[in-house]
Amino acid sequence: MHDEPALDSRIAAAAARLARARFVAALTGAGVSAESGVPTFRDALTGLWATFDPRELATPSAFARNPKRVWDWYAERRAQVASVEPNAAHRALAEIERRAPRFLLATQNVDGLHARAGSRALVELHGNIARVKCSACARIAQRWDEALDALPPRCARCGEFLRPDVVWFEELLPAGALAAAEDAARECDVLLVVGTSAEVYPAAALPDAARAAGACVIEVNPDTTPLSARADFALRGRAGVILPALVRAAWPDSLGSASAVRDAASG
Ligand code: APR
Repeated sequence: MHDEPALDSRIAAAAARLARARFVAALTGAGVSAESGVPTFRDALTGLWATFDPRELATPSAFARNPKRVWDWYAERRAQVASVEPNAAHRALAEIERRAPRFLLATQNVDGLHARAGSRALVELHGNIARVKCSACARIAQRWDEALDALPPRCARCGEFLRPDVVWFEELLPAGALAAAEDAARECDVLLVVGTSAEVYPAAALPDAARAAGACVIEVNPDTTPLSARADFALRGRAGVILPALVRAAWPDSLGSASAVRDAASG
């Protein structure tokens, strides 16, 4: 699987920290869903922002300028996310939650795949694409009609446009989710940082807050990021390969093989 002896020994050392941790926290980004077929944002050719301009699709002013275009783009992504399955990385994080005495997963992803893989101690820092809310009164819409000619649909209470319940650039993160993630970063013994370019704040500030509080930071990413040089362990590889290996090394009894992860997650 991974033929670098160095990587194996670094996985073993990182797993030893994971196994003895009282409180494990995790921060994830788009890379954790890449192996499910969900495009990341900044990967050179395949990332969404390589094809689309975030200023035209992921800001309040873009929505004000062209609400239908923004609505359609998120509706397409919503359908794509609904058509894929969680992968071994999502399942391994759900397994870590079951194994660690205390755990919190803070995700930047809006795809809902962590919850579908069985994660429960979970906060969504950037919202969730499956939810829709009013762009004015913020009321969550239980249902809406995609077949309307004049899209986006309108709020049943105040009549303003509905929008995806995700955090756009220039917008504040949900206060409760951010506070929970910041507390976890300050209190955890180990912070796993998986599949994020560590460039978008305030989420990207969490690893340094954890380091400053004495936590061990384990980064999992096939590429180098601005965080890599400051991580205690920078494990180069795909999350769907490295995370199950970390779990097997940390809790050898829990997973005879990769399929045990699958069985555990599907119950
Ligand atoms: N396993 C682990 N990491 C991977 C994998 C994989 N299989 N494939 C790609 N990656 C890594 C890339 O190397 C990159 O560092 O995932 C990272 C994805 O980075 P971004 O595309 O920038 O995504 P993210 O960090 O989640 O972006 C943060 O920016 O656009 C906004 O709101 C959006 O939540 C998003 C935020």
